[in-house]
Amino acid sequence: MIPTDWIPAFAGMTTKKTSRPLSRLNDQKSFATVIAIDGPAGAGKSTVARLVAKRLGYLFVNTGDMYRALTWKALQDKVKINSRDQIVKFLKNNMKWQFHVHDKSLKISLNGRDLGRELRSEKVSRLTPAAAQYPEVRRLLRSLQRQAAAGGRAVLEGRDTTTHVVPAAGLKVYLDAAVEERAKRRYYQLLSENKRVKLSSIREAIRIRDLQERKRKIMPSYLAPGAIRVDTTNLTLHETADKIIRLYEAGRRRKKTV
Ligand code: DC
Repeated sequence: MIPTDWIPAFAGMTTKKTSRPLSRLNDQKSFATVIAIDGPAGAGKSTVARLVAKRLGYLFVNTGDMYRALTWKALQDKVKINSRDQIVKFLKNNMKWQFHVHDKSLKISLNGRDLGRELRSEKVSRLTPAAAQYPEVRRLLRSLQRQAAAGGRAVLEGRDTTTHVVPAAGLKVYLDAAVEERAKRRYYQLLSENKRVKLSSIREAIRIRDLQERKRKIMPSYLAPGAIRVDTTNLTLHETADKIIRLYEAGRRRKKTV
């Protein structure tokens, strides 16, 4: 992959930079042109966010990729993911983040290597929730995510983007869909990858995960103040993107007239 336009502010940036207080970040006018998309697993956040960004010509930021990149690098360097001290120290001292934009998406390079498919491996997917549970990890990665959004004209996707990363975003969407529908989408996705699983097992796994996400102490899933719930159960991808863009543009028009 050949990086197209680099973001100078990010080149060579490490996580040693401390995050600025949220109160100051919230004042930034540029977050008015940021859309944050949150919601449970399997609601289609990523695909929808990418589509919305593409249609608006905005930068697409997949915040989960940062958690995945940390996990991938920790595995490479044999750092214990379930040791809070080790992972935090590793993130602070050994991760040489670089970001660039390719095809309007924020891409990650670590210690000189562009990351892509390796972030989606089964092992990385399985271990990332463990790395994402530590408050210091979340604080440092949110700081990077805010910096990615600070230039405005961006769509941020991820489960705490509306509640913690950019609560001052111009539009905050909580994308949801009925358990049955999310299970079916996952089922057909797996079938298309020639993986055979029972629909009933997927449904049960989603139901249990929803329950765990609502109840967990660290970052329970909830609707942020001012966020709009968009139910995608009976909507196609394009209809969902249309709806989000209509909400965003209506909000912009309203703000201009006040
Ligand atoms: O959205 P995803 O599957 O790529 O996310 C990967 C993991 O990172 C998943 O365990 C959820 C976690 N994550 C998070 O804790 N906060 C975010 N803003 C994004 C993802």
